[in-house]
Amino acid sequence: MKKVGLAILGLGVVGGGTYHILTEHREFYQKTQGVDISVENVLEINRERALALGIPEEKIASNIAEVVTNPDVNIVVEVIGGVGVAREFVLAALNAGKTVVTSNKELVCKYSHELEHAAKAHNAGLYFEASCVGGVPIIRTLLDGVQANHITSMMGIINGTTNYILTKMSNGGESYESALKEAQRLGYAEADPTSDVEGYDAAYKLSILSSLAFHTKVPLSEVSREGISSVTQEDIADGKKLGYCIKLLAIGKQTKDGIEVRVHPTFVKADHPLAAVNDSFNAVYITGDSVDDVMLYGRGAGALPTGSAIVSDVIFAATHAENKYSTFKNEEKAEKGVKFAKDYRSAYYLRISATDKTGVFAKITSILGSNNISLDEVLQKVSDENDRATITLVTHETHETAIHNAVSKINALEVASVERVLRVVS
Ligand code: HSE
Repeated sequence: MKKVGLAILGLGVVGGGTYHILTEHREFYQKTQGVDISVENVLEINRERALALGIPEEKIASNIAEVVTNPDVNIVVEVIGGVGVAREFVLAALNAGKTVVTSNKELVCKYSHELEHAAKAHNAGLYFEASCVGGVPIIRTLLDGVQANHITSMMGIINGTTNYILTKMSNGGESYESALKEAQRLGYAEADPTSDVEGYDAAYKLSILSSLAFHTKVPLSEVSREGISSVTQEDIADGKKLGYCIKLLAIGKQTKDGIEVRVHPTFVKADHPLAAVNDSFNAVYITGDSVDDVMLYGRGAGALPTGSAIVSDVIFAATHAENKYSTFKNEEKAEKGVKFAKDYRSAYYLRISATDKTGVFAKITSILGSNNISLDEVLQKVSDENDRATITLVTHETHETAIHNAVSKINALEVASVERVLRVVS
């Protein structure tokens, strides 16, 4: 039987989960995949952690050189995270001709061009299913499941922490701050939650997934990003009145104006399949020209779900003689001539605080009309104080620039100001 030796770099939550899956399922993979996968080395600063997992002392390496010169190691699994030592170690492994499997979205997003060049130069594989959406096999689906299609659109809830926070705020009536604290207590959010709540994590993943879906490099710098820290109970209450729930959506589209890639809080119509994705669950909704709509749903994080994605890459690498690389020219920047559309088309929700006087609403609608914005729904709530009214509007699809123009014109009126703008998906 074919024997494949592994090294695991980093034995945190995901590294530990990966080790557990590999050891528990070793015989199962021998039977079903015809390959014997053994862990030959681990690299972990905390030796006690490695020993507690039952890893024999002699398999704990002291440095990366020991790992990459070990002839029994064929595949190196990197689960350290970040772009410091992880980048250095992955390059060392690839340069030594070892195939690399990584869960590191920041590394893949920012440096996959550099890693892929090294991999190709040394006939090594480079696989990263676990970098996006944890246990959900989105990368394999894009590469090997829907590759017959031109993918026209991809919409996803690809960050579990923010989905947990927004679900708590929506179902439990909690404030953003208290839902974030709960997410931190449960270990979803980090002590510094910026990467999740400000949309960086989702932007890394969207850059990777869009590059694969649209067969061209989509650099991080092209992804528009807005997080959820500004979401309030007022947004959620208005959304409910209008039949929407709020989600941090990552959207990638191939349009006639170019590729658009954006991450932002979005009102999603309650009957849309993505509206049913709650708590820390993730989902990706893909539309292809032949297959139509496909949705994948599952756990986007956690020791075993992410370990499952890592081990599926390990098995793929162990059972395929040929390495599989990107379907596009993988350079740091987008290829010349590839266009990125910034003037998106979307429906919008606007919340406007206005003086409750005759003619004010007419002024607002006149501004919207002169920017070619047509209205789908209008709600007005009159406050007892200071003759103020809150006007809530949902527009039909329009351009982002039209909304920006209209918002600045409304804000220039003395009688009205726009308090909130959210994009809407029906
Ligand atoms: N922090 C990520 C999330 C998990 O909350 O979805 C790892 O990508």
